[in-house]
Amino acid sequence: MKRPIAYVAGTGRGIPAKVMTNHDFAALGLETSHEWIVERTGIVERRIATADETTCSMAVTAARQAMAKAGVHAGELDAIVLSTATPDRLLPSTAVDLQAQLGATRAAAFDLSAACTGWIYGMTVAEGMIQSGVIETALVVGAEKMSAIVDWKDRSTCVLFGDGAGAVVLKRSQSGANKGILSAFLRSDGKLAELLWRPAGGAAVPFSETVLEERSSYVKMAGREVFKHAVRQMSEACDRALDGAKLTGKDIDVLIPHQANHRIIEATAKHASVPMEKVYVNVDRYGNTSSASIPIAIDEAIERGRIKPGTTALLCAFGAGFTWGSMVIRF
Ligand code: COA
Repeated sequence: MKRPIAYVAGTGRGIPAKVMTNHDFAALGLETSHEWIVERTGIVERRIATADETTCSMAVTAARQAMAKAGVHAGELDAIVLSTATPDRLLPSTAVDLQAQLGATRAAAFDLSAACTGWIYGMTVAEGMIQSGVIETALVVGAEKMSAIVDWKDRSTCVLFGDGAGAVVLKRSQSGANKGILSAFLRSDGKLAELLWRPAGGAAVPFSETVLEERSSYVKMAGREVFKHAVRQMSEACDRALDGAKLTGKDIDVLIPHQANHRIIEATAKHASVPMEKVYVNVDRYGNTSSASIPIAIDEAIERGRIKPGTTALLCAFGAGFTWGSMVIRF
């Protein structure tokens, strides 16, 4: 096992107050039901941002909590890595808005786009920046306003997603300390991009009347195909992160998978030989918050005593791209 280079010094979350239950879809005229959504996904409700709540504002809330718990003030941040599939605008990044609002005057700031796997990608990038000696302290945020990009007329996608942000402060490990990131694994396969994507609204197919009419700037997904790949790749990701840390499922105190679907979570846990009592699940309350889902779950798990000093956690994620990845962290 490698000596940890970086450890989690503090965590936080920014969650909109507005709750949307499965029953609320009836008011939108969608042909769906609470029973269908719960049975297929495990989702009971999700949080939806108001017009005033942005990807950045949720990130600010999460970041301030993480910095307070880490005892780190804005001037000590060397880098802000913000993973998002829902930037507040396309240029410049949402990370620079976060940098400005925090007053992180010494920090580099950039967005990272790897969909639901983005926060694990971001943690790995930040760890590498610490290892290279460029930085000492990073803020790694996953923040998503999925309600702004889903098609509220498409029952096969809009019931799945929710809004929120999670953040951690990542600091250089003290020499001799054994807490921190023990392993990481990242993969992608862009040949499968069209199984989960927003076909229009970027530089290749800019916004137009046709895009609006065809609703092609919203998320499109081949649910059944995505499901199969998610189970396969999250399972592979768990194996690789465990191998990297020279651990097995039995050594894991808590498994925090990306919260997309209860059935995917169960299949992943079974493959990793981690019993469901050791799996942290909140997909029932938040739905799929994309790259915010793992840092939100970590913050809650700490608050609820499921993660304590010394806890070994296995994290794994899968998302559009496809991208997938995993990480073992000792807290
Ligand atoms: N309410 C009621 N019926 C719905 C529905 C909804 N919200 N959404 C889809 N349906 C219908 C379909 O139209 C289909 O009807 P048909 O058989 O008449 O065509 C039927 O339910 C079954 O659809 P199917 O896609 O086969 O269901 P499923 O068991 O695969 O469940 C998902 C659908 C989306 C829940 C599931 O495929 C899934 O979770 N996929 C992964 C999604 C995901 O996690 N994406 C993010 C990855 S990061």
